[in-house]
Amino acid sequence: MTQAGPETPAGAQDIVFDHVVKTYPNATVPAVDDLSLTVPAGEICVLLGPSGSGKTTALMMVNRLAEITGGDIRIGGRSILDLDPIRLRRSIGYVIQQTGLFPHLTIAENVATVPKVLGWDKKRLRERVGELLELVGLPAGEYGRRYPAQLSGGQRQRVGIARALAADPPVMLMDEPFGALDPITREHVQDEFLALHARIRKTVIFVSHDIDEAVKMGDRIAIFREGGKLAQYDTPRTLLKEPADAFVARFVGADRGLKRLTLTRLADLADAGALTPARDADAALPQLAADASLRSALSLMVAEGTDAVRVTEPRGPADGSDGTGPVLGVASLDAVRKAGAA
Ligand SMILES: Nc1ncnc2c1ncn2[C@@H]1O[C@H](COP(=O)(O)OP(=O)(O)OP(=O)(O)O)[C@@H](O)[C@H]1O
Ligand SMILES: [Mg+2]
Repeated sequence: MTQAGPETPAGAQDIVFDHVVKTYPNATVPAVDDLSLTVPAGEICVLLGPSGSGKTTALMMVNRLAEITGGDIRIGGRSILDLDPIRLRRSIGYVIQQTGLFPHLTIAENVATVPKVLGWDKKRLRERVGELLELVGLPAGEYGRRYPAQLSGGQRQRVGIARALAADPPVMLMDEPFGALDPITREHVQDEFLALHARIRKTVIFVSHDIDEAVKMGDRIAIFREGGKLAQYDTPRTLLKEPADAFVARFVGADRGLKRLTLTRLADLADAGALTPARDADAALPQLAADASLRSALSLMVAEGTDAVRVTEPRGPADGSDGTGPVLGVASLDAVRKAGAA
């Protein structure tokens, strides 16, 4: 891990909540009550829970938009209480639901906001904006001069992400960033963010109230319950397999067995040697690329009325459904079931 402080953010840093309490002025009960958890550097931690359970408050304490009233938060080993709040905020990417883009600034100007405050020169600014807009799939030549109102909701969301990344912060806070998007756009932007994250490896805290989104996006999930209490903090797999109590079980849903199938890819079956070699007779089976999930495989089997699918090499990173590459083997319903139960 790097030791870069917030002035020269680089690499990823872990975030430690150490018995954190937040009681708002005049409140009788804490909004966040004795929260302790560690988000390892470079991971995505999803805060999940019902409305009013303290997710946003927990997030806003990290960049001191809400001041903690007990305990400590450390980023890369340094207490946030020892840092100047304004500088701290500039060193942390922050994405909120309505993206918070400035309507009267162009897309390029929006993305450049923080680096500009940090005093970057024009050339460096221009290069960084170009690089970031490219990264989120909105080339500056085409989109840089537009205003937020001239973009779709999903595009605005991507600008929000580019802006949060502008000063290369080691930490990103995202509060229901995709909540306002329609389901299809949302899935798209989630996929894009995951692909982006795989390249940039920031430490991300991501608020959601959607278990499916949490399972998809999170390396770990922190489930909050009413009263700002942490109910469970685990990997999605463990959470779905071993919910700590009835509240968590209810929150993750009755179909948690099915949800777990989204966590395993056909490629994992191939790696585990659980595919059978394809025979000529299997040519009629529906086929799916190896990067598809077991849940997709199961859906396809149900839809096609078969008890197996042919598994092909993935065609490309964006291709999750109908591979056309060489056939790796055949995944049977039984193999999918067994892997799902593991
Ligand atoms: N500025 C504030 N002053 C006083 N109380 C607040 C303030 N902000 C939030 N609260 C209270 O703190 C509790 C936690 O609120 P918070 O916004 O963190 O919840 P949340 O989990 O993000 O909810 P949602 O899913 O609805 O966004 C709630 O009871 C809320 O009423
Ligand atoms: Mg909230």
